[in-house]
Amino acid sequence: MTMLVTVLGATGKTGALIVAELLARGLPVRGVVRRPEAADVVRSQGAEPVLADLRSATEPLADALAGSDVVINAAAASDPQPGLAEAVDRDGAINAVNAARKADVPRFLQVSSLFADRPDQGPEFLHRVLRAKEVSDRALADSDLSWTIVRPGGLTDDPGTGLVRIADRLDIAPGVPRTIPRADVAAVTVAAIDAPSSRCRAFDLTSGDTSIPTALSGA
Ligand SMILES: NC(=O)c1ccc[n+]([C@@H]2O[C@H](COP(=O)([O-])OP(=O)(O)OC[C@H]3O[C@@H](n4cnc5c(N)ncnc54)[C@H](OP(=O)(O)O)[C@@H]3O)[C@@H](O)[C@H]2O)c1
Repeated sequence: MTMLVTVLGATGKTGALIVAELLARGLPVRGVVRRPEAADVVRSQGAEPVLADLRSATEPLADALAGSDVVINAAAASDPQPGLAEAVDRDGAINAVNAARKADVPRFLQVSSLFADRPDQGPEFLHRVLRAKEVSDRALADSDLSWTIVRPGGLTDDPGTGLVRIADRLDIAPGVPRTIPRADVAAVTVAAIDAPSSRCRAFDLTSGDTSIPTALSGA
């Protein structure tokens, strides 16, 4: 089935890999960018760029999402400026959920973070951003959208391996690796779009030794 997928944060490191993964599957892709100069990056990938900011009013953001079958939010505050996590990862992500509802987009996938469902157990320097994501993840889960929340561990730029660990809540023992290449996060997120087991479901994700389809089917 052909479906239009719109990616928020399309110029981000994970977002660009998600766009590439979708295009490789032959799907039409819209990439939301917040800086006009980033539109060419998205266009050169083969996706349709649309200008919008998660911090804008809901109406223009809904216009950017209109006509999509699926929205994937891979946007996040990428610098530690005070208040930015609350503005982008919390309020901006909630705004995106409201915009998707307004635009009648049925499916919404959110790239969140390991420990967003238990911020106090995450590394102390991440507590603020994890608390921001905890609130927006809950808003998505409480919505009437068909939602999926992917909570990856520490992201690396290593090549993808296709081997992962997925569980509602991973047991993160001290010393157990909790990282994952962004390429594997992108592959899991795109595979989750039509994986029935990932509907209305949040799961932790790290590198592991299980193939993505198998890990997702048990998710
Ligand atoms: N870094 C880690 O180890 C780690 C671990 C677990 C989870 N995560 C999460 O994984 C996701 C992807 O991370 P990443 O490092 O790949 O992302 P990234 O490279 O930092 O990209 C973030 C994207 O969000 C966009 N963005 C920022 N503010 C925005 C706004 N107000 N409106 C619209 N777009 C906005 C950025 O656009 P510009 O290019 O215009 O800035 C960029 O495209 C994020 O949710 C992150 O929190 C990260």
